[in-house]
Amino acid sequence: MKSDEIRSKFIKFFESKGCVAIPSAPLLPENDPSVLFNTAGMQPLVPYLLGQAHPMGTRLVDSQKCVRTNDIEDVGDLSHLTFFEMLGHWSLGDYFKKDAIEWIYEFLTDKEVGLGLDPKRMYATVFEGNNDAPLDTEAQNIWKQLIPDHRIYALDAEENWWSAGDNGPCGPDSEVFYDLTENGLGDLSKEEFLQHCDTLEIIEMCNSVFMEYLKADGVVTGKLEKQNVDFGAGLERWTTIMQGVPSIYETDLFDYFLDFLANNSDKTYSKNQTDYRIIADHIRSSVFMVSDGARPGNKDQGYILRRLLRRAVGRMRNIGFDQGTISDGVEMIIAKYENTYPNLREQAEVIVSEITGEIEKFADTLEQGLKEFQKIVDTSSTKNNITVQEFGQHGAAMPVNEVSAEEAFKLFTTFGFPLDLIKEEAGRLNLHVDEAGFEALFQEHQEKSKTASAGKFKGGLAGDSPKIRALHTATHLMLSGLRQELGDGVNQAGSNTTEERIRFDFTHDSKVDRETLDRVEQFVNNTIAASAPVTVEEMEKETARESGVVGSFWEKYPDIVKVYSMIGTDGTVYSQELCGGPHAENTGDLSEFGAFKIKKEESSSAGVRRIKAVLV
Ligand code: ALA
Repeated sequence: MKSDEIRSKFIKFFESKGCVAIPSAPLLPENDPSVLFNTAGMQPLVPYLLGQAHPMGTRLVDSQKCVRTNDIEDVGDLSHLTFFEMLGHWSLGDYFKKDAIEWIYEFLTDKEVGLGLDPKRMYATVFEGNNDAPLDTEAQNIWKQLIPDHRIYALDAEENWWSAGDNGPCGPDSEVFYDLTENGLGDLSKEEFLQHCDTLEIIEMCNSVFMEYLKADGVVTGKLEKQNVDFGAGLERWTTIMQGVPSIYETDLFDYFLDFLANNSDKTYSKNQTDYRIIADHIRSSVFMVSDGARPGNKDQGYILRRLLRRAVGRMRNIGFDQGTISDGVEMIIAKYENTYPNLREQAEVIVSEITGEIEKFADTLEQGLKEFQKIVDTSSTKNNITVQEFGQHGAAMPVNEVSAEEAFKLFTTFGFPLDLIKEEAGRLNLHVDEAGFEALFQEHQEKSKTASAGKFKGGLAGDSPKIRALHTATHLMLSGLRQELGDGVNQAGSNTTEERIRFDFTHDSKVDRETLDRVEQFVNNTIAASAPVTVEEMEKETARESGVVGSFWEKYPDIVKVYSMIGTDGTVYSQELCGGPHAENTGDLSEFGAFKIKKEESSSAGVRRIKAVLV
């Protein structure tokens, strides 16, 4: 089944249930300054979910263009994308749980009007309940009429509660999962089910959110006027499943573009999959961004667009792609999607010219910038040689040459290299980048030039709000908890904090089981409950090191360092870590944002694990 057929079957099916098909809103939100791009189908419909009457009625269906850049570093694997289409159907105070669940089950399983998937391979989840709302027995009972009881699981708010942020409509949800294994796994305990989800043998198909609550500043404050349904499913994922291919890139949404790249490059797809995939993803996203009004620039949406295109140029060089042919590839993407999104054809000329213009412009400076890189390599062995304790205290200390903050910043300002391109090139040349130093210079520069893009996307901390400080303090406690559980081999390998979440990379070479994560969580929450003051002290680096202060990249720090301590009134040392700040004043301040939760633990790269954690 081709992607066009899946999309149109979905729309037709819900039209048969009385929904009116509405066009996708533009990618750049029209009246919502809180996000740069629509990140979910519900975003442009928020006013209607809050009660305003929609001109097309109370039942809608659509395919919404979305962009998410928070996982940009994962693009190139089997499933992550920056642009995607979210199929949605909407009840604005009209049908509710019974119809929403029965209809999506019908659509997924019916061979004529739907996808014809095997009901024996289906699992469903519902919300288990908490202070905000009770266990969703209504959804549970509806599912029981459709699939066996023991394939229905009640999960917590991390999994089965949906909101777009700290403010706005939200509610419990119910997800459908599908077993992709060859012989089928059959009935599973909840633990087994979650394990198979982790290995992607079972994957999420879609999410029905029963939006009837309102959140303000992260807290549920009451019920909405009406009970709404917000349903979302990723077209790319459905297409991958229906076409039985190993990744989104082998579906008809990308295969033609990979062929195009292969026909104009020196290196093959099979040996350079990541490069090919990143180019394909980034060019497709850029086509849609330009069609909806974004132009390469230095702030906000323009900066994200520029960053995607420049990153693509770096990858094009890796595979020896003939950049002069890129307009043909852009044209293919337009042709692929123009029936669904007619403004692509209307905007075709400007799409081609903006994309080729930015690529040509950057291709020249890329060469000069790479020469600059070579200079850094040539001189760095004497100038920047630092030692990185690669796998913790017990691992090998590896000499790694460094791109200093100033060098990285010069690559950024003079040659226009976005930080992630600098990191990629550095990685290829076995250089380490002083990211923290780069961020400091970047901040300074932003403040000086007073552009509005500070905090929108960069590594490290995305600002200095009370929430960010709290999350940063929680990060220290988490590292301390991880070291207690897993040993001193655990060191920070990277950290990125936004208002929404902590993303933390650390050295460890195997999966951390849920029980261990639970204990780390408990440690952090106990420390929050203990209201330990957070103090900062300047001390000699050697003194700090000898007294057991935690830190990575010691070699980079000056002789006098800042150490942040969290020590309880009873003398318990919860954490002592080398850091530049900023932090909360007291661990108790974190409780204002809720409890600490580790949402996800996964591999990041060889010997490095990644955790996503929140205060909720
Ligand atoms: N808004 C829901 C989601 O994005 C459907 O998963």
